[in-house]
Amino acid sequence: MKLRDNRELIKKLYDGKAIRREEWYALLTALTANEKEALRSMAASVAEEKFGRGVYIRGLIEISSYCRNNCYYCGLRAGNALAQRYRLTKEDILECCEQGSRLGFNTFVLQGGEDAVQNDEWLTDVVRAIRAAHPEKAITLSVGERGEEAYHAFRKAGADRYLLRHETRNDEHYSLLHPRTMSASNRRECLSALKRAGFQTGSGMMIGSPGQTTEHLIDDLQFLEELQPEMIGIGPFIPAAGTPFAGEPAGSIDTTLLLISLLRLRFPSTLIPATTALATLHPEGRKRAILAGANVIMPNLSPRSVRSKYSIYDNKATGGSESAEDIEKLEKELNAIGYHINYARGDYKI
Ligand code: 5AD
Ligand code: SF4
Repeated sequence: MKLRDNRELIKKLYDGKAIRREEWYALLTALTANEKEALRSMAASVAEEKFGRGVYIRGLIEISSYCRNNCYYCGLRAGNALAQRYRLTKEDILECCEQGSRLGFNTFVLQGGEDAVQNDEWLTDVVRAIRAAHPEKAITLSVGERGEEAYHAFRKAGADRYLLRHETRNDEHYSLLHPRTMSASNRRECLSALKRAGFQTGSGMMIGSPGQTTEHLIDDLQFLEELQPEMIGIGPFIPAAGTPFAGEPAGSIDTTLLLISLLRLRFPSTLIPATTALATLHPEGRKRAILAGANVIMPNLSPRSVRSKYSIYDNKATGGSESAEDIEKLEKELNAIGYHINYARGDYKI
């Protein structure tokens, strides 16, 4: 009886029907190993129907490890005395894009902390310069909470996409993860502003962050249903040295993979990355994410000299096929599971 109910639930999700809270609860907590495997394989088929066996790549450029914020979970938090700080110059970033271009990348992702020096004007100028040098490429920003005018300016300068995870939809949980200077409602306001500015917008959350419950995850899923983001990034929480959560356990790989499959079925066209956090926790983490319905990988294009300094959490995977230079290795890894790199820009399409 139970087995049949859960299979029906998975089918309901697959059919695009609305899922009630208690049904999400069952999907998140009550699936047997066989049901989870059925879900995974369905999610992989949906991804294949939408995207084939191609995996989009995005060249990730980590532009600054300075951040004015103090998120309790993040190694780059302002108060972390152990953090190594650097910021790239405009010239560095343009050089990374050149390198990425030579390697065949068609999307650049500029990601950084909320660095007061890399302010709105500076970033607008950098985006304009990349746009001029690479008219055909997609430019993605991931530089935190900014004002609505800044978002419009970035867009006008040529940025196409913006990643800003909501982190958690539950206000109480949000305040457990962040100091009072930050608020869940401001984060959501920024996400609305990004949509208004016309960005393809990405959001998402950590899995297994301290204090996270299944109810919080359901809040997250329902929030994503409202927001309808073009991209959803999720990854396990990983403790970071020098932060208040340094001693907390990491999030579960299996729960992260389960969430990827649920997201793929609920949001068939959404771009879902196999995140570095998964690769960090498990050597096969990225492959398993692809086989669970993810369809994007973001290899690192940052200058080698700074890679180890962008330490959001401990032991972040930087070697091997995490690196943009090792694109052939990535291709081989994907080939081994029947997939390949898709070099296209990979814009969101319904
Ligand atoms: N573990 C996993 N993910 C983290 N992030 C920040 N700190 C950690 C951590 N310790 C994620 C946040 C942020 C993104 C850039 O990295 O979700 O939005
Ligand atoms: Fe800064 Fe982002 Fe880290 Fe928070 S998660 S401290 S905003 S870099």
